[in-house]
Amino acid sequence: MEDVDIAVVGLGAVGTALARAIERDGSQRSLTLYSRRPAAARRLGDELGRATVTADLAEVAGAANLVILCARDDELADRAQDLADAATPATNAVLLHTSGFFGADVLAPAARAGWQTGAMHPLHSFRGASGHDLDRTSFTIEGTGRASVLAHQLVRALGGKSLELRDGPASRARYHAAAVLLSNGLVALFDTASEVFGAAVEGSEDARREALWNLLVPGSVEGLLTGPAEDALTGPISRGDASVVSGHLRALAGEPELSELYRRLSLRMVEIARRGDRAKPADLDTIAELLSRPPPTA
Ligand SMILES: NC(=O)c1ccc[n+]([C@@H]2O[C@H](COP(=O)([O-])OP(=O)(O)OC[C@H]3O[C@@H](n4cnc5c(N)ncnc54)[C@H](OP(=O)(O)O)[C@@H]3O)[C@@H](O)[C@H]2O)c1
Repeated sequence: MEDVDIAVVGLGAVGTALARAIERDGSQRSLTLYSRRPAAARRLGDELGRATVTADLAEVAGAANLVILCARDDELADRAQDLADAATPATNAVLLHTSGFFGADVLAPAARAGWQTGAMHPLHSFRGASGHDLDRTSFTIEGTGRASVLAHQLVRALGGKSLELRDGPASRARYHAAAVLLSNGLVALFDTASEVFGAAVEGSEDARREALWNLLVPGSVEGLLTGPAEDALTGPISRGDASVVSGHLRALAGEPELSELYRRLSLRMVEIARRGDRAKPADLDTIAELLSRPPPTA
């Protein structure tokens, strides 16, 4: 990307990770960092060495022909307007955002001011300012003309891969809902299971968390990485052990929300188990019937 001057606007989790990855790749002509928090920009600038730091959006527009806006989703349109108000972009200058939910159209205020707009969403979970390697990360890319071209070039330079969304009005929202369901849903599920586990098992919270994680998650993840869900599924439903499921339902009966979550997920497990050949169909029918009954009282 020898002829590309990049600016990262907004140095939260994604902006920081992208700036680090861009600097590591080093194929761009220049890198400018902008944050509304000058101290945060200076800190990252010091870490990266060669990047220029600014607190002036007009300078961003003057310095960069590819600006990556890493703002919160609800702020994207306003931040695009700020950029449009700050300066006229150079010919063919590109503005990308990193939201998975919104398309390029959320940057309309900047498009009206002459920016070519697009979206480049890394399918990755970024936390705080910790280091993230984007190598082999998948990105969905959207944008017209030069916006799409530069986004693809950048993804390739960072060692990433691009994912194509299917045509259709809800594809982007469904894609993002799926990502949130898995990434953030895993956290919610782990938190829920930890609570139930903690009420039943002695020991410090750290020890319990480690036991729960180490014992259960890696095996399931490894199974999912190497084969279909029916091969990754273990536990009573994979074997058709109806008495165990019935016992769980009784144990959780006093907690309706937890019980409901257990039922919903277990019904999905029954569907998965039906695709495999370990459990007898009749046992899975019994389990499905148990899970569909009104909750027993404790
Ligand atoms: N996090 C993820 O896993 C993830 C993954 C893929 C895509 N995305 C998308 O990327 C975009 C940015 O998400 P994000 O997770 O990077 O959001 P974030 O960490 O909350 O940062 C969002 C904005 O908040 C400001 N900010 C960050 N830390 C702050 C602090 N300590 N105090 C005050 N302001 C602070 C930054 O702007 P200033 O630097 O100008 O203050 C930054 O642009 C969103 O569109 C999101 O949907 C996120």
